[in-house]
Order: sequence, then C-alpha cells, then structure tokens
Amino acid sequence: MCGIVGCIGKINTKKYLIEGLKTLDYRGYDSAGIAYLNNNQVEICKTVGSVSLLEEKSPKEITSFIGIGHTRWATHGVPCDINSHPVQSMNKTITLVHNGVIENFMEIKKELMEKGYKFTSATDSEVIASLIEDTLKSGKSMLKTLQSVMKKLEGSFACSIIWEEDKKHLYLIKRSSPIMVGVGDGFNLVASDAVPIIEYTKKIIDLDDDQIAIISDKEVNLYDIHVRPVIIKYSDKEPSLLSRDLNGYPHFMLKEIEEIENVVRRLCLNFFNGEEFTFDPHLMKDLHAADNIIFIGCGTSYHASLVGARFFRKQEIDADVFIASEWAYYPQISGKNPFVILLSQSGETADLIHCMRIIKEKGIKTLVVTNTKGSTLERNADYSILLNAGLEVSVASTKAYSAQVAALALLTSALKDRKKVVVDLNEACKIISQIRVREKSRLQALANKLKDSEHLFFLGRGYDHDFCLEASLKLKEISYIHSEAIPGGELKHGPIALIAQDTPVIVFISDPNTASSMRNNIQEVKARGADVYVVATHSLSKEDDFIIIPDYPIYLSSIAIAPIAFYFAYYASLAKGYNVDKPRNLAKSVTVE
Ligand code: F6R
Repeated sequence: MCGIVGCIGKINTKKYLIEGLKTLDYRGYDSAGIAYLNNNQVEICKTVGSVSLLEEKSPKEITSFIGIGHTRWATHGVPCDINSHPVQSMNKTITLVHNGVIENFMEIKKELMEKGYKFTSATDSEVIASLIEDTLKSGKSMLKTLQSVMKKLEGSFACSIIWEEDKKHLYLIKRSSPIMVGVGDGFNLVASDAVPIIEYTKKIIDLDDDQIAIISDKEVNLYDIHVRPVIIKYSDKEPSLLSRDLNGYPHFMLKEIEEIENVVRRLCLNFFNGEEFTFDPHLMKDLHAADNIIFIGCGTSYHASLVGARFFRKQEIDADVFIASEWAYYPQISGKNPFVILLSQSGETADLIHCMRIIKEKGIKTLVVTNTKGSTLERNADYSILLNAGLEVSVASTKAYSAQVAALALLTSALKDRKKVVVDLNEACKIISQIRVREKSRLQALANKLKDSEHLFFLGRGYDHDFCLEASLKLKEISYIHSEAIPGGELKHGPIALIAQDTPVIVFISDPNTASSMRNNIQEVKARGADVYVVATHSLSKEDDFIIIPDYPIYLSSIAIAPIAFYFAYYASLAKGYNVDKPRNLAKSVTVE
C-alpha cells in the first residue's frame, strides 16, 4: 500500500527519493509526491499516477540536505494532488508523509477547527501535521510534542516529518505501520520497507511501536513513548532475499511462479538437516502441548491456512481457521490450551496486526509464518518461521503461498517425526517442473480461449477444493474474470444454477476417495452445457482429460498443481492486456484495515 522514503545528509536526494519510491511501487499506489529543500524552503512536488510522472514533473536535479517521499493508496479522500502526500500543517511549519489510518482524526480535526485551523485535503494525515504544529505552540520541544501527539492519535501511523525550524533533522513516529532507518556514512535513510535502503546500507534499524526517531546526517536517536532513550539494535536483512531483479522474465509473476520449485527445496533444507527436523524445540514443545490450533490469515494466506489446518487435523490435533478481519471482531478461541498460527507473506497486514493485539492481551502463544524478516508480525510473535522465498513483487502471491503450505507440511510432519514429507515435497517439485516444461503453452492457449468469459468455475473436493479457492482468487484478481471455487458436492445446493451453455469449468481430481463423485459432478455440469477442463492425476484420469499429471501425495495439491492455476491466471491477464503485476485496486501489503 502506501510507501515512505526519506533521506538526510550527503546523498543524491532526488535519486534516493525517486528510485526508492520506484522500488516500493509493487505495494500499489495511485499518487506520489516528494518534499525537499530549495534555498532552505520546503518545496513539494506531487502527482496523481506513477512515480515516473513525478520524476518528470520534479526539477531535474535536487540538491537538498533533507527530503521525504510517498506513494499513496487512497483511503481518506480520492486520489488527487491535494490528497497526495507530503501534506503540510496549516501554517506550513510541518511537512510530513504518513502511512496508516488515524481512527479519531475527525475528532481531532474538529478540535483544531475550533481553534481556527483550516484544512485543504480530505486526509487524516493533514490532521497529524496541524496537530504537531498546534502542540509545538505550547513551547514544548519537538520530542515532547511528538510524544503528546502520539498519545492523542488512535489508529496506525508511520510518519516521516520535516520541521521548518529544524531542517537539520528528520523526525519519525510509528505505531502499527512499519518504518525503518538505514544508517549510512554521512547520511541516513528512511523507508517503510527495507528494499530502497538495502542498496545503500545493511545497517537497518526497525522502529518498534510507539517509538520516536530523531535523525540527523550523522546520528539516529530513538525514544520510547515516555521519551526515554532506546538502545539501538540493527536488524539482520539478507540482501539477496530483497532483490527485485526480473532476471530476464517479462513479469515478476511469471518469475515468481518459476521460483516455486527452488523455494520449496530451500525450505526442506532449512528445516530438515538430512537426519532430523530443525524447528525451534520450544515451538515444538508448545505445539505438542496445544489442544487447538487457531489459524488466522487473509486472502491467499487464508487459503494456505485452510491447508495447514487440514495437516494438523490429520495429526489428530484440532484446528480452526479464520479470516483475520472476521476474527478481529468476532474472536473465537476453543480449547484449554490454544495456540495461534498467523500466516502473512508481508508480515504487515493490518487485519492480522489487529488480531495479534487481541491474542497478546489474552496471553496466547503465537507463531507467525512469514516471508518478511523483521516485519511487525514477525517481531511481535513468540515464534516465527521464515519462508525465505525472496521478495515477492507481483501483487498476486504465488511462491509465498506454496512456501506457506510447504512450511506447514514440514512443521506438522516434524510433530510426528514423519520424515517422508521431504520425499513427498521433492515429488511435488518434480510435478511443478513437469508442468513448466510440458503444460505451460497449453495453459496459455486455454487462457487465450477463455479470456473473454464472464464467469469461470473451479471444482474440487478436500485438498483440491482448498486449492480451487486460491486458483479462483488468482484468476479474478489479475484477469478480472468473475470466478468461484465450488466444492463438488455443493453444486447441487445452489451454484449449479449458474452453469449455462459454454460456462467454463476447471475441475481438479487428485483424491481417490472423491474421484468418482467428482466424475458425477462433471456429468452434472456437462448436462447443463458447461465447457469442462479436467486436471487429474494419472491413476484417476480418463482419456479426454485436459491435463494428466503423475500421481503425487494428495496432501500436497496446493504445491504440486498450483502452477497450473497460476500460469492460467497469468496468461489470462496477459491476453487481456492488463498489468499482470499490479492489478487494479490492489496492493501488495495491506496496511490498512
Ligand atoms: C492475493 C494476495 C492477497 C494476500 C493478502 C494477505 O494474491 O496476495 O490475498 O494474500 O492480502 O497478505 P499477507 O499474506 O501479506 O498477510
């Protein structure tokens, strides 16, 4: 979603701000802006649209000691220049960029308006700027001012702030939205994500919630909400895992699909040393002691959670699965000794952070399965499993999904010391490679044929149905074709009414227990004129099935055959001429609730 950059000191300000914003653009945005000093005056340049447009619109060269930049994904107010960041306080003494959402901004705005403040934008961010300006009037230092402002603000924020009276420092405040500082030699950098910083320095400080940073070109000082100095700790970020190189691929999504095999193999090496599993023994102990596992996730991570819960139930451990934005408001906790597993590729999803707060209040232990080391969720969990899948740039998650499922397969197998999982995952990898070599062009042809469909249905049961949910999400989010995943047996309870002449239906059959029921479902939809494409494993296949793949351990459907759905969605989006990696209205890291 929104992205922040900032810099101070001896650095090419325009280059860092613009290039930095470009590296954050995968998160999704609709407008962009920068603020910098020109003859000691704060200048602002903003635009609706791309960072490249901003680059063209801004001066060719910017020699400024200090600068901040932002990509905005509209929440309060439509995308337009006025609502874009940086925003300023009424008297322009404060210029800031903000990620997050201020829940009580209307109340604060009203109070400030009663004092004579005027606002030009519809944003909650402008309210923070004027609140800082107003609080400074009482004669407090900036540090004390930021403390008092943070106490007033409800919601989430990461702000990078320039104060007209002290252009030798950048100020940061943070709660529930990520922000970090990169420490350089004669300069310091700010960003909401490590990607822009890592090219310049590996010394990165992740701010914790309710911290304030005061940054000069040579120093970084951190304070907690009581304005007590905080000892600085550097986070350990692996540059190769933050690379956003296309490596010759036309799109990140295609590259990321084709990385799945390596990602799964790497996970096996990370968590199995050839003789035994290497998960944290404390985590294993807590999982063994738990009588109910509560999975929470959103979107694709929710779909991976569904599979994870099946893995636990297979080991005779109760497991529930919830969508984060539902659980946050209707928390359900069963069992005498529950344990929560949160799945999040980004580790920054606001709905999950909300859940995490509730879970912590209840004193329940948590494991976060994430691709982002140092993310808010990772830092706040009792345990974390890192997917090490490398940066996922495409908004549509692919390799992170397969990695989540693989990590959970390894974890649950480790509980019973079931080493065969490693062999099974290798089998799944072989299927993935076979699909890449043999089926890609047929999937492209199918996508070209079905690209103008109004609806498309995915049918499956059990593990295949869990995967159908993901296949359907992937298709709709990047090709904008309406699609649904239907458990085979549910057809006759309603959805079959949607099947008409030539309605495309893609069916997955990999489970011998349900194969014949699935074949009956195929007859039912065919009788209504559906255009059916069956993907089946060899032993369950029929001659005219669309794709026949070798048999594989059925619990790994979401890994082995995932590329079929991912390629299909990719090629459908491509055929329709859409921006595959940046679908409309979506953001990579959903940092607002
Ligand atoms: C879809 C997709 C989203 C995310 C969801 C949760 O392709 O990527 O549905 O899975 O927004 O994000 P994370 O996993 O970062 O918590």
